[in-house]
Amino acid sequence: MQRWRTLELPWRGVDRLGEALELRMSEPRDAVAWVEHLQRITTETPWMLQSDEDPLPTAGEQRGLIEEYGIRAGSVAICAVRPGEKGILGTITLASGRSRRTEHVAELSMGVAKHAWGRGIGRLLMDAALTHALASRIVKRVSLSVFHDNEVARRLYERVGFATEGVLRRYVRMGTHHEDLVVMGIWLEDEAPTAGGLA
Ligand SMILES: CC(C)(COP(=O)(O)OP(=O)(O)OC[C@H]1O[C@@H](n2cnc3c(N)ncnc32)[C@H](O)[C@@H]1OP(=O)(O)O)[C@@H](O)C(=O)NCCC(=O)NCCS
Repeated sequence: MQRWRTLELPWRGVDRLGEALELRMSEPRDAVAWVEHLQRITTETPWMLQSDEDPLPTAGEQRGLIEEYGIRAGSVAICAVRPGEKGILGTITLASGRSRRTEHVAELSMGVAKHAWGRGIGRLLMDAALTHALASRIVKRVSLSVFHDNEVARRLYERVGFATEGVLRRYVRMGTHHEDLVVMGIWLEDEAPTAGGLA
């Protein structure tokens, strides 16, 4: 079965429609564009835990968060951009555990701007994040949670090797009703690409 592929950063290539694309580690100078991206992905779909009712970080707070992702072993903040443009098309973050017993676990979060869906950007971001996680030698497991009806995202996660591990019943309040959240995980060494294999 096809799993995730090695993707080293920075990466330059084209998306599935042939438009130039760059994936790179996020830098503090991305803070404003990152907040704009957050605002977009939390309003374009119902599938983020943060909604448009929650306050967004300020640019200063976001700068601090990006710096922290860069400093903490096993954590990373990656963005997908059009080369030479300021706006962000997609992001993925890994936040590693804060205790000795959980530092091998990284929590994944991602989002791609709706106008850029289906161009392979989500898959590239996932490959870059898992490559970084494995190379860190600290992260062994990546965890995420996803809305039960977010079929595109669940399929993407399954395809790279995440397994469904449980359901958090009625975890998310959506106005007057509650939705289930699915917990997924991957043990990196079990699903890693073999040298010269899938990359
Ligand atoms: C889930 C998400 C990150 C996928 O990003 P993306 O850039 O569209 O993903 P890709 O283009 O790499 O596509 C991944 C797979 O989904 C398929 N896909 C993408 N959009 C699709 C759509 N609207 N309908 C059906 N399939 C779709 C692609 O064909 C691809 O499958 P393939 O590899 O077999 O061709 C993106 O849809 C998104 O940000 N959604 C909103 C926020 C969200 O759900 N975040 C995740 C929270 S856990």
